[in-house]
Amino acid sequence: MQNSSAKEQSRDKKYFIATYGCQMNVYDSEVLAGHLEELGYSAAKNEEEADVLIINTCAVRKKAEEKVFSRLGMLRELKRKKPDMIIALWGCMVQQEGVARKIKERFNFIDLVSGPNALGRFPELLETAGSSEQTVFDLNLSGEREFLPIKRAKNFKAWVPISHGCNNFCSYCIVPYVRGPEKSRLPENVIAEVKELAQSGFKEITLLGQNVNSYGKDLQQKIDFADLLCKLDQLDNLPRIRFMTSHPRDFSEKTVRAIAEGKNICEHIHLPLQSGSDRILEKMNRGYTRSYYLELIDMIRKMIPGSSITTDIIVGFPGEDEEDFAMTMELMDKVRFDAAYIFVYSPRRGTKAAEMKNQVPAGVKRERVIQLNKLQSGIVLEKNRLLLGSIQEILVEGKSKTDKNMFTGRTRTNKIVHFPCSDNLLGKFVNVKIEEARAWNLIGIIN
Ligand code: SAH
Ligand code: SF4
Ligand code: F3S
Repeated sequence: MQNSSAKEQSRDKKYFIATYGCQMNVYDSEVLAGHLEELGYSAAKNEEEADVLIINTCAVRKKAEEKVFSRLGMLRELKRKKPDMIIALWGCMVQQEGVARKIKERFNFIDLVSGPNALGRFPELLETAGSSEQTVFDLNLSGEREFLPIKRAKNFKAWVPISHGCNNFCSYCIVPYVRGPEKSRLPENVIAEVKELAQSGFKEITLLGQNVNSYGKDLQQKIDFADLLCKLDQLDNLPRIRFMTSHPRDFSEKTVRAIAEGKNICEHIHLPLQSGSDRILEKMNRGYTRSYYLELIDMIRKMIPGSSITTDIIVGFPGEDEEDFAMTMELMDKVRFDAAYIFVYSPRRGTKAAEMKNQVPAGVKRERVIQLNKLQSGIVLEKNRLLLGSIQEILVEGKSKTDKNMFTGRTRTNKIVHFPCSDNLLGKFVNVKIEEARAWNLIGIIN
């Protein structure tokens, strides 16, 4: 907590936070905003207007990193015009090997460079950065994440982390290196937070973790993810509980049952497959086979009728040949996912896969992504058509980005629906009749 004079000094000062990467980063940005508001800052409309500018970065693929570096190039000019502005580079990217050195050498106008786990230390870091001539670095992977202030972007849906970090070391992935080892939050803290959200009118929460299914393994008390879900399901006034991401290896029958029997747990499971080839899955260190995955899908569909299952796929992992890729195509055709996020493999410095021989040429990767996307969009369109004429419960989330006359919301199964609506229904549930099916969304009218 800051003393009142610090708060006094920052009155009328503004902040802007640009966020890249996953939902965990979106959540972290809300905590940074919470700190700044507590210090007396208010939100700026754009980065030029800001007194404190934070770029919250992602390192999962090269593209995410390149976007940040090109933005930094432009910020050099802004800092020249507004030398008192504090610019902070935050999050996963700065934790990567070699990045801090690159910042020192090429972007020394940045005031603060800090990894994702310094969230609890932000107020002191900001103060030091404000009074120091040199860039302040904090790359310590440990740090307190409980009881921090937060400024949530919306007042009807919220992110709630249940664990941080990851121990899986999938061979392509940078996350365990930049977020540190997995650490589950205490169930009593998660439950208290969710209870408070429900009491203050939130309609939907999404539990976050790199692998929610391994929740509790590192805790002294005996609790697993299914137990946590059941406890949260019993809370009053919380119609929608979502969670991500599920690792297939740790997805237990008990969890499937908890979702099936729960009244508030949404029937949507994001279950990254990554590849349909056993040979590649092994090289990825995923810990399951295609037949195991198929059995899991079967169990989910039998026990949770009407559920939707979405996935992530990586194409062009080192050594992926035509046959491996055909296995992925075949599996996707068989499973018929409700949505799939298809990524081109991107070598990450320091990971095992980056050192592997037989890196797949860029042209081949690109061709495979196109093929998979074509297959998948046909499947989604067919699945979405099955919803034509049905009435869906939608939480109204905001205006559509592409059509200002339309609003956007999601079904319990996480399908995006656009429909005409009035402002006063924002954050409320409406019943929408589906009238048009597209590959990435649905169009409807309030019933
Ligand atoms: N913890 C989650 C997701 C983490 S990253 C999980 O295990 O599913 C989100 C997605 O990014 C991953 O599912 C994967 O498909 C993709 N991804 C991760 N590292 C990647 C890399 N080096 N290149 C391309 N895609 C990658
Ligand atoms: Fe990365 Fe694998 Fe951990 Fe997901 S489970 S964050 S893909 S190492
Ligand atoms: Fe998320 Fe990117 Fe970090 S996906 S955990 S912000 S590397």
